[in-house]
Amino acid sequence: MTKKIQICMGSACHLKGAPLIAQALQVELERREAAGEVLFELAGSFCQSQCADGVIVRVNGETYQHITVADVPRLVEICLQED
Ligand code: FES
Repeated sequence: MTKKIQICMGSACHLKGAPLIAQALQVELERREAAGEVLFELAGSFCQSQCADGVIVRVNGETYQHITVADVPRLVEICLQED
């Protein structure tokens, strides 16, 4: 099964560091995939209309707000735990 992570790349989230978070996610997901069993799909999205609460990341359909690079390992763990 493919796990899905989507990061908002709208203007507000971009200014709050979305590209750095996307890069950190990519590195972490590739590390996990190289270890074996799970495939991930990382995608960007348009503005999610929650700009004040950005950076917005969706993990398997669930929305997470105020995400920073420090949250990346936690998000990947959440992604792995969900079916
Ligand atoms: S730019 Fe990310 S929620 Fe609007």
